[in-house]
Parts: sequence; C-alpha cells; structure tokens
Amino acid sequence: MDKIIIQGGVPLTGCIEASGAKNAALPLLAASILVDGPVAYHRIPHLRDISTMMTLLAWQGADVEYDDRHCLHVDTRPATKSEAPYELVKTMRASSLVLGPLLARFGRAKVSLPGGCAIGARPIDMHLKGLTAMGASIEVEQGDIVARASNGLSGAHIVFDQVTVTGTENLMMAAVLAHGVSVLDNAAREPEIVNLADSLRALGAKIEGDGSNRIIIDGVQRLQGGEMTTIADRIETATYLAAGLITGGDVTVSGIDPGTLEAFLARVRDTGALVETGDNFVRCKSQGRLQAVDIHTLPHPGFPTDLQAQFMAMMTLADGASVIRETIFENRFMHVQELARMGADISLDGNTAVVHGREKISGAPVMATDLRASASLVLAGLAAEGETTVSRVYHIDRGYERIEEKLGKLGARIERHSASENWMQGARLNA
Ligand code: EPU
Repeated sequence: MDKIIIQGGVPLTGCIEASGAKNAALPLLAASILVDGPVAYHRIPHLRDISTMMTLLAWQGADVEYDDRHCLHVDTRPATKSEAPYELVKTMRASSLVLGPLLARFGRAKVSLPGGCAIGARPIDMHLKGLTAMGASIEVEQGDIVARASNGLSGAHIVFDQVTVTGTENLMMAAVLAHGVSVLDNAAREPEIVNLADSLRALGAKIEGDGSNRIIIDGVQRLQGGEMTTIADRIETATYLAAGLITGGDVTVSGIDPGTLEAFLARVRDTGALVETGDNFVRCKSQGRLQAVDIHTLPHPGFPTDLQAQFMAMMTLADGASVIRETIFENRFMHVQELARMGADISLDGNTAVVHGREKISGAPVMATDLRASASLVLAGLAAEGETTVSRVYHIDRGYERIEEKLGKLGARIERHSASENWMQGARLNA
C-alpha cells in the first residue's frame, strides 16, 4: 500500500488549479443511465471513486471511454443490467446513486445495500422512502435493495426528514423520467445539486428551484445525449488553502467560484488571515499565527462537514481554544487520535471537540481512516516539525487528484512511496 512522506515546516506559496469535484462528478455519471444517447463529460477528476463509478457503468453494459485525462464519453444505451453488485458498492457508498436512475429507466433495480462506514451509520432510508412515494415497491433481499416500478414512477411530494445530499440527487434523477410533477421539500442546497440540475436541464429535463430547499421536477419522456461539465471541487480547494494557512504561507487556487466556499472563507477571515477572491480564484494568505475560531458543521450553505477535519488540523496550531461541533455524522472524529499522536491537544465529548492550539506539533507515523481525515493528517504533517508518514493513502486517492504533485508545486517536501498497484489501469474500460 502507498504511503505519503512529508518533511514539514515549509510555508506553502503559489497558485494551483482546482480539479473537478468528486461529489459533483459521481451523480453526473450516474445520470448517464437516464440519457437516451451519448454524453461527453468534461472536467472529470482522475480519482479512485470515479474509476469505481466507471467500472459500475461498464459492468451494466455501458460504453465508457476516456478521451483524455479529464474528458469521458459514456453511452448507456447498450446497458442491460439494472444492478449494482456488492463488490462495487462496498468500496464506494455513492454507488447507491444509480438506484433512482436504474429504476426510472428499467422499472427495476437491484442495488446492494451499503453498510455503515468509518464516519457513521449512514443509512439510505430517505432515498427508499422517496422512491416508495413515487410508486416503487422496495424489499431488502439478501443484502440487496430490490426495487420495482413496472408501470414506471409517478411524481410525488416528498419531504425529507433531514437534509440529504445524495438522497436529493437520487430522487431528483428518478423524478426526471417519472409521470407528472414531483416536489422535493427540505432538499439539499449544495452546489453539486445545482450542477446536476443544470446538466439534466441541458439534456431536456424540467427542473426548477435547485439551490433552494424546494425542488420541482416535471417528468419528461426522454433525455437526449449531450455534454455535462463538473464544477470545481470546493472541498479540494479549501484543503489546499488550509495547507497554505497551516504552514504560514500564501496559496491561490484558480478555476473555482468563491461563492461555493463562503462559510469556510468567513471562518478563515475570523482567524485573522487575509482572504482575496475574484471571479474565478481564491487566495488565502497567512498574517501571522492563526487565531482560534469555533465551527459547527451544517448542510450547505453552512460549514461543510467535509472540511471539519482539515479545519481542526489548522486549529491545532492556532492561538487559543477552538470548539468544533460535528452535527452531520456521528463518528467523524477519527482523525483526533492521529492528530494527538503528532502532539495536538484535543479533547472529545460526544459530537464536540475542543482544540487547544499549540506552538508546534511534531511529525509522526499516522494512519488515514477516511478521505477527509487523511487530508487533515497531510495538513498537520506539512506544518509539523520533522517527518510524517501517512499510511493507507488509498483513502486520499478516492478524493484528491495528484495531491503530492499539487502540494509539491506549492513548495511542499512531500513524496509518495508507491506499492505496485495501478488502480487506474483497471478502470480504463470500454467494455
Ligand atoms: N441520512 C439518513 N438517512 C438517509 C440519508 C442520510 O439518516 O436516507 C443521514 C446520514 O447518516 C447523515 C446525514 O443524513 O447523518 C447527511 O447525510 P447525506 O445523505 O447528506 O450524506 P451523503 O449524501 O451520503 C454526501 C457526500 C459526503 C458528504 C455528505 C454531507 C457524496 C458522494 N458524498 O454524502 O461526502 O460528507 O454528503 O455533506 O456526495 C466526502 O466526500 O468525503 C463525503 C463523505
């Protein structure tokens, strides 16, 4: 298994380009199942989770082909299988995004039920409740969700009990080809939802209200082929900005709409750092030691749970105490013990962590436990005295494209020690 080795203590400076967002690209790829024609995808990040989704679509019988590194062609017209097997779902929960599209297209779907994961139980009951309201019958048989809607899905009024990102995406996709009008209330408002709605509209879908908590979808008979472009990755962008700040540096990320990062940038301003934004870039420049700032995670436009671990890493070196409350996932503090191994002073009580900033932390061997926790360990390693080795790097490869290359471009002393595995080869499918 690969390891990342970092010699800490170099202030990062410079400019890098944001990649396409993993969490936007995954639903866009799942949406190809709804389309009666070829789809050309742009700005697809080169990531492990993307290759898993490509493998899944190819396994169902779709033509899936890379044009160049970030452009992908998918044609699901030859697809015949309306299933997502356990072998793929177990490596990526977001495989369940194909449930709504498969049911809408084939009138049936068999998708392995995702289990719990490192950050929480993460049930998908609200996805299933919504599809049932649209007329599907749903059973769980031998670990698989078996959904049927032989006469097609019908529009329904669905009120989510809790904001769910992939739940909103799944039901939005299912509703696009349903008979009649669907209303999704208490819908997620993340920029990735708007990206999906924009992309579906470009192929003929009738969707209004995305970006608000009420989305209205008027079902159509068919979506025609066309193009979809993934938005920039706001979580990746903020991670690199945090890398600049934690090392006392000055980092600019281009190719990103700063409006997607408002909650994060507001908290960064509170630390005393300089934030500069333009149409298509964000710059964060350290102005001395960061001041401690409290955060609590919320659905968009609140502070993203996907940045909680990285912000905590920054706070381990801040001046003062920071209270960090995680309200989205019940178990998203796996990085705390690893940061403590590097000398961070963090106490945990339920969903709240209190970080007492230290003058310095020191390098150590640490272990990645999930994607964003891994990113926080890399950030801590960049700022720590001495050497940090982060193992189980496959978590990082799920969501950060060429992380060591991008950080290296900013001046970081970081290298990957590779094992022989080449996961991308297996994903270059045209089957
Ligand atoms: N929930 C339920 N029942 C459901 C659905 C969700 O109880 O049917 C709960 C979850 O357990 C959680 C909360 O609702 O406590 C919110 O979960 P949500 O459904 O919004 O999460 P998700 O859609 O599974 C996406 C991202 C995550 C991100 C969350 C929150 C994708 C592919 N994944 O997950 O991204 O943390 O939204 O913003 O979009 C990551 O990229 O590292 C990552 C984990």
